[in-house]
Amino acid sequence: MAQNTTQIIGTHALIQKLHHLIQKVARTETTVLISGESGTGKELVARKLHEQSLRNAQPFVAVNCGTIPGDLLESEMFGHQKGSFTGAIGHRPGMFQLAHGGTMFLDEIGEMNPVMQVKFLRVLQDREIRPVGADMPFKVDVRVIAATNKDLAHEVEAGRFREDLFYRLQVIPIMLPPLRDRRSDIPILIEHFLHKHNEGRPYPITISEEAMVLLWEYDWPGNVRELENTLERLVILADSPVVRPDQLPANIRSFLSEKKIPRPKLSEEGMDLNAAVEEFENRIIDEALRRTKGNKQAAARLLGLKRTTLVAKLRRKRDADYTAPQAYNY
Ligand SMILES: Nc1ncnc2c1ncn2[C@@H]1O[C@H](COP(=O)(O)OP(=O)(O)OP(=O)(O)O)[C@@H](O)[C@H]1O
Ligand SMILES: [Mg+2]
Repeated sequence: MAQNTTQIIGTHALIQKLHHLIQKVARTETTVLISGESGTGKELVARKLHEQSLRNAQPFVAVNCGTIPGDLLESEMFGHQKGSFTGAIGHRPGMFQLAHGGTMFLDEIGEMNPVMQVKFLRVLQDREIRPVGADMPFKVDVRVIAATNKDLAHEVEAGRFREDLFYRLQVIPIMLPPLRDRRSDIPILIEHFLHKHNEGRPYPITISEEAMVLLWEYDWPGNVRELENTLERLVILADSPVVRPDQLPANIRSFLSEKKIPRPKLSEEGMDLNAAVEEFENRIIDEALRRTKGNKQAAARLLGLKRTTLVAKLRRKRDADYTAPQAYNY
């Protein structure tokens, strides 16, 4: 594989530390356990580790323990001999054989069932595998990198993941931070993905400063993947060269209106107290309804109101909302 094709974007101190760690670990044979929320770049880091390793001319093979049914995982990983189970036609190599000399990436390792956990631990210890139905094991030369979006230590405590395997895997643990813990990288990532998705367009799409503030403030539960998907969609759907706040996805805008309840100030010109109180009330009611998924009875209880009082307030609010900006724009 060509070197330096995998780009980990970011200048935050946590990302600089990550680069440093990758440099130190890549050229070793150590097992690595990468953990982090969905979309934080676990697979990206695994590919980078392989790319920077001495094995980079050999294959990088990824196996997702969460999507392969438990009873098939063993033959997927270790291969099988002819007739070892119904449907096993001929010899079939497993991922370990395909990854020989290279790197095996075991994604969602927390989903591996207890029987496989035992077999896999043995492979890590003895560096040999036994295909399903084979009499003899044979040596394999594979570097293992595993990833999880679960808290594996917690899985161990709960008795769902073997402690011995956990320690064997996390010789080097790499924890990837969620995007909201390194917000200063958001503009850099936006720049990177805009550039990527603007390619081949008649004119490039840019993000207005006001929209950038909102993208910065948003919490990004789907992390970098969510950010990239959002930008791709914005570029595809853009009708004008500059993306403004009202063109951002509804979930981002509603997240922010919940997060930021404005604090009205009494200025020199005075203020309309009734309007400010009403505005505040409406936002709290909105939040109560969002939390109770629209159940008015439950929302009223949450607010210490009678249901009829809440309904009356909602009727008043609905009249005011009539001029509200469009809720969905894509
Ligand atoms: N620092 C980064 N720089 C550039 N791209 C990134 C970065 N982090 C993640 N990405 C991109 O975001 C997407 C998600 O990354 P990746 O698949 O590695 O995440 P993951 O942690 O494996 O997610 P999941 O748990 O959902 O499988 C990919 O398209 C990846 O290229
Ligand atoms: Mg992944």
